[in-house]
Amino acid sequence: MAQAWFETVAEAQRRAQKRLPSSVYSALIAGSEKGRSSSDNLDAFDELGFAPHVANLPRNRDLTTTVMGLNLPMPIVISPTGVQAVHPDGEVAVARAAVARGIPMGLSSFASKSIEDVSATGASVLFQMYWSGTRDQMLERLDRAKRAGAKAIIVTLDWSFSNGRDWGSPWIPDKLGLKNMIKLAPQGLSRPSWLWSWVKSGALPTLGTPNMAAAGETVPTFFGAYYEWMQTPLPTWEDLAWLRSAWEGPFLVKGVCRVDDAKRVRDLGATALSVSNHGGNNVDSTPSPLRALAAVVDVVGSEIDVLLDGGVRRGGDVVKAVSLGAKAVMIGRAYLWGLAANGQAGVENVLDVLRSGIDSTMTGIGAASVRELSRADVVAPKDFHRCLGA
Ligand SMILES: Cc1cc2nc3c(=O)[nH]c(=O)nc-3n(C[C@H](O)[C@H](O)[C@H](O)COP(=O)(O)O)c2cc1C
Repeated sequence: MAQAWFETVAEAQRRAQKRLPSSVYSALIAGSEKGRSSSDNLDAFDELGFAPHVANLPRNRDLTTTVMGLNLPMPIVISPTGVQAVHPDGEVAVARAAVARGIPMGLSSFASKSIEDVSATGASVLFQMYWSGTRDQMLERLDRAKRAGAKAIIVTLDWSFSNGRDWGSPWIPDKLGLKNMIKLAPQGLSRPSWLWSWVKSGALPTLGTPNMAAAGETVPTFFGAYYEWMQTPLPTWEDLAWLRSAWEGPFLVKGVCRVDDAKRVRDLGATALSVSNHGGNNVDSTPSPLRALAAVVDVVGSEIDVLLDGGVRRGGDVVKAVSLGAKAVMIGRAYLWGLAANGQAGVENVLDVLRSGIDSTMTGIGAASVRELSRADVVAPKDFHRCLGA
């Protein structure tokens, strides 16, 4: 039997692919249209280099930082991802790992576990919302997040409901009734250890979104929640200013790539933004957030915390993003691969791999603190950076 410990995120992904039914695995691969943005998210990290020193290297490295007033042991935040039914404990397992490593956790409003169950682990929850439903429903969700002790709200804006991938989208049922279970049986039976983990848990993969239901309401299915979101008129800047004013604490806007949008996000009073293209799931051909990062940092970085997400797979990637001005990165697929491969321990494993990668990169480039990293610490090819908007 393979060792449970994996030494890279790439290995976690290979194990996840072996363990998960193909439709579940490809739901995590996601991406839109031709997958240009998801590829560029990874390619951009490959294009940046380092110039290591060989002596006078720092004996100790300080990885700590702060984001939105929260102390982080390293510049990493768990990015919200929906319906983590890749593992019976889903978001609760991720939350336990986040607590064990002292990392805040973004919790999707499309999560398969309730914010109350996730908060009960002691995690620092950053509750993620879409502009979905009526204002009263949104106020109710904010109020629920506050009662559950959420430390911040993440509002995700980079989703344009694009359909279709050149490699095909997996069939995912709305509910797991008998008919759908029979249809999915061959896939499940081909992945006995995944199936066995569900049998042992005594539950079925849940496709419900408990954080989208008001008290006493039936929990909507993922597609029910998605339908509500699709039917909601897209938000204006005034709508977003209203939402920001309805939440007293830290407020992060996720999905900004353009400098003009970044200025508006700052002006509406956000505490932070994440430069992101939703992991390559927004308009295909949006460049990697890593290319757009420096320009955004230049216009708003001294006033609000600028984060980045998309394509982070190793500690060196974190160092590259922080060198270009991100206060921290948010990780998505990296921890999902860990969760699928080995539950809570797999997510901890991913966080440990990233931590040791940050540390060894900093040793090599002679950086004593993540807070001192600068653009001079990376080697960027000509024309690497993109300034989106004006
Ligand atoms: C399977 C999947 C589900 C996601 N669900 C959400 C979500 O519910 N809310 C959200 O704000 N972002 C969601 N995202 C985007 C992530 O938060 C993050 O922006 C992205 O995964 C970062 O790219 P990476 O996966 O390359 O790290 C999702 C991404 C994936 C891959």
